[in-house]
Amino acid sequence: MLLKTKKLMKAFGGLKAIDKIDIEIPQGEIRGIIGPNGSGKSTFFNLISGVYDSDPGSYIEFNDHDITNEPAHEIGALGLARTFQLLRLYQDMSVINNVMSGYHTKVPYSFAAAVLGRKKIWDHEKKIRDEMMELLSFVGLADFAEMNASELSGGQRRLLVLARAIAGKPKLLMLDEPAAGLSPHNVDNLMKIIMQLKDKYGLTLIIIEHILKVVMDTCDTVTVFDHGQKIAEGTPAEVKDDNAVIEAYLGKKMNDDEMRKALAV
Ligand SMILES: Nc1ncnc2c1ncn2[C@@H]1O[C@H](COP(=O)(O)OP(=O)(O)OP(=O)(O)O)[C@@H](O)[C@H]1O
Ligand SMILES: [Mg+2]
Repeated sequence: MLLKTKKLMKAFGGLKAIDKIDIEIPQGEIRGIIGPNGSGKSTFFNLISGVYDSDPGSYIEFNDHDITNEPAHEIGALGLARTFQLLRLYQDMSVINNVMSGYHTKVPYSFAAAVLGRKKIWDHEKKIRDEMMELLSFVGLADFAEMNASELSGGQRRLLVLARAIAGKPKLLMLDEPAAGLSPHNVDNLMKIIMQLKDKYGLTLIIIEHILKVVMDTCDTVTVFDHGQKIAEGTPAEVKDDNAVIEAYLGKKMNDDEMRKALAV
C-alpha cells in the first residue's frame, strides 16, 4: 500500500472531525472521497499531509514510512503533495515562479546549494525552469508564464495550483475539490489534464470532489465519509447504490432529486 491509516482520529474540542478511519490506497489508484459538508474530508487531508497532528492512537504510513505526526515538509519530501480547497497562490508572483515554488518546496535552495555549490546552481536553476515551463505547457499555461498569478482566470488558477503541486514530482497527489467553481466545460478540461498527468508522472491520486459525476467517471474506488466516519467504500457503481450513502446526503445540502440525479450518472 502506498498510503495506509489505522484508527486515524482528530477531535476539535468535543467534535470528532475524524473518527477512527482505516484506509488503504494502493499505488496507481485513483481514489475518490465524498461526503456531506463538514464530514471530515479536508481534515483527513490535513492530517495525512501534516498540517494538523492526529490524536493519540492514530497511525499513518506512506510509502513504507511511519509518517504519523511528522512535519509537513518531511512528508512532502517523501513524495506526498496536496492542494487546498481554498486556492493558495502567490498572487504577486509570476505564474512560472509559482510553479518553481512547488519544486523548491520539495528541494529547498539550501539543499541544492549544498549539493551543487554556488557556481552550478544557476545551470541547475535553468534546467529546472525549463522543466517547469514544459509542465506549464502541458497544462496550457505556457503563454501566461510571466504574468502575475492574480491576473489569471479562475479556471487558469486551478490549473496553476495543479501544476505547482506536481512540480516536485510526487508519488501521491491529493486534490481537495480541484474542480470547484468551474463551468462544466472547464471541469471536463481539468479532469482530462489530471488524467494525462497521472499517466505521464505515474501518480496515485486521492480526489475530494462534490461534483459526483467527476468522481463516478474517474475514480477506481470511492470512500464515503459522514460525521468523520467511513460509512461506505467500493467501486463507483457499488457506492451509488449504497443506502447509507444516499441517506447521508438526503436532507442535507442537496435535496432528494438533486442527489439521485447526481448519483445516477
Ligand atoms: N481547525 C479547525 N478547528 C475547529 N474545527 C474544525 C477545524 N477544521 C475543521 N473543523 C471542523 O471539523 C469538521 C470537518 O471539517 P472538514 O473541513 O474536514 O469538512 P469537509 O468534509 O471538508 O467539508 P466541506 O465539504 O464543506 O469542505 C467540521 O465540523 C469543521 O467545522
Ligand atoms: Mg473540505
